[in-house]
Amino acid sequence: MPGMIKRLLTMLPVLLLCIGASADSDHGIRVRHFSNEQNIIELRPVHRYLLLPVEDSAPEGRLFFVQDNTVSGPGINVRLARERIDYYVPLDISEYRGRNLQIDVQAVPEGSVCWKNLSCSDDFSADVSPVPAYHHIPPYGWMNDPNGMFYKDGVYHLYYQHNPYGCTWGNMHWGHSTSRDFVHWENEGTPLEPDAWGYVFSGSCVVDHENTSGFGEDAVVAFYTSSKPTMWTDCQTQSIAVSTDGGYVFDKYEGNPVLGSGLRDFRDPKVFWYAPGKHWVMILAAGQEMQIFSSRDLKDWKYQSSFGLTHGAHGGVWECPDLVELEVEGTGERKWVLISNINPGGPFGGSATQYFVGTFDGKKFVNGYPGTTKWMDWGKDNYATVTWSNAPDGRCIAIGWMSNWQYQNQLPLRGYRGANTIARELSLYERDGDVYLKSRPVKEMLSARTAVSSEKSFRVSGMDYSLDRALPEGGAFEVEMKIRNNGAEKIGIVVGNTAGETVGMYYDVARMRFVMDRTESGRVDFSADFPAVTSAPASVDGTITLRLFFDRTSVEAFGNDGEFVMTNLLFPSEPYSGMGFYSDRGAFSVVSLDIYSME
Ligand code: FRU
Repeated sequence: MPGMIKRLLTMLPVLLLCIGASADSDHGIRVRHFSNEQNIIELRPVHRYLLLPVEDSAPEGRLFFVQDNTVSGPGINVRLARERIDYYVPLDISEYRGRNLQIDVQAVPEGSVCWKNLSCSDDFSADVSPVPAYHHIPPYGWMNDPNGMFYKDGVYHLYYQHNPYGCTWGNMHWGHSTSRDFVHWENEGTPLEPDAWGYVFSGSCVVDHENTSGFGEDAVVAFYTSSKPTMWTDCQTQSIAVSTDGGYVFDKYEGNPVLGSGLRDFRDPKVFWYAPGKHWVMILAAGQEMQIFSSRDLKDWKYQSSFGLTHGAHGGVWECPDLVELEVEGTGERKWVLISNINPGGPFGGSATQYFVGTFDGKKFVNGYPGTTKWMDWGKDNYATVTWSNAPDGRCIAIGWMSNWQYQNQLPLRGYRGANTIARELSLYERDGDVYLKSRPVKEMLSARTAVSSEKSFRVSGMDYSLDRALPEGGAFEVEMKIRNNGAEKIGIVVGNTAGETVGMYYDVARMRFVMDRTESGRVDFSADFPAVTSAPASVDGTITLRLFFDRTSVEAFGNDGEFVMTNLLFPSEPYSGMGFYSDRGAFSVVSLDIYSME
């Protein structure tokens, strides 16, 4: 008898393992349904993730982790699949491993398909497509604004507004990526999650070289807006998180939030060091203006001034500000540029980035050239543009979210939504007594390209064209050209594919504009706001230079060394494969045409 007990005891771990295994094979998941669309998922996690089936068009359900009858965490909104499954998202349950976990799910009907399709796994491999070759995208899920960019020890850090639980806006976290060349990006996870003060909205990072904050020498300090849904409307305050490992892991500051106001829209802090005054500056979007604060220790902020109510475009709220000092090329003079993203109210509808050039004394920005509104990008898809902090060699590098709030939630993409523009080097130049921004592709883009063809000097006349210049397969390429006009009224450039889809571009010589038409570029029917013709002021005298960056689902046109830039999303049904030219009235000559692969 004792022998029998002993044998049973030695078998106990095996028996337990079997129970574990059988629980594992049906994932040990039990779902209970109650009245009013209240449900409880119960499990004892063995694996890292609970994979949640999502349907983009379903209403949001709300999930709360519950242990011992107590809710933990702020809750997550997920569009759990009701009728059909579009894709899965991973819910990390590893911290509950080996313990009983309940997940309270509200506002999802009992008959939904999600309940029978819950499973657990140690891995999650995202199914995302189409994927650009050289633009930054999130690993899966939703992305909007670039946030908190800074440079340190050879690495460019980029955080971004991220929903890890769906491909539509919600649950704002900061995702994190790093790069050394702006072309290859590493996914570094999601270092900032929502908390008691709300979602983690847009913001910035600084490297506190002198330890002015007491957080430690060279600490990376992140500033973001805590946006908390309250009983009435969202409450927006500013919070801090600190990283002492160079931006990978952050601890939220215990004194959060550090700055509030009575305003409804009060967000997107951009912080920088103002060397002449030996203090920090924070510029914030506040309704339809920007507010400026100062601080000596990054924690205690004092209001200094406001800018903007009577300047620029006001078709929507002002968001995501930046304030940078740049040299006016060739003059040795330096001026300040205040960047103000605005949504809606852009020149072609929806979101866009405007800027002002003037002076800044550490407390107050003064617009030196009031009058016409200046746009940083003349396409429909460049928003929330801000710059890298602490960039080396005096560089001022900006990046924008390559989309528009008008249709971002409808983009025909699988498993993710959101890409960033290529990084752009900013400088200033003078024209007709005014001062404008130049946006050039960062020089790193040159090492990302491989020459595939080069032509010199050919003449274009007549309206007929064929797409006879072959483009690299796969839809990721750069075309660089120099053109001289010889009496043409239209200098036409067309990029297209064998499905008859085209991106039509031309210089309108009389109006001195560069025009791009994406109405026939592929899928345009997912939103009435997507088909569009965009145009930019462009000089057409002498040698015209143009660099076109195509990357499967986008084009960025840089004219005359960055005097204009135009960014537009595109959804061709197959990659663009050919290019052609035409002219209206007189002729023009293509001095050089260089095509590069960007794979
Ligand atoms: C701009 C914006 C910001 C805000 C963030 C929220 O696109 O509206 O003002 O912080 O997105 O995701």
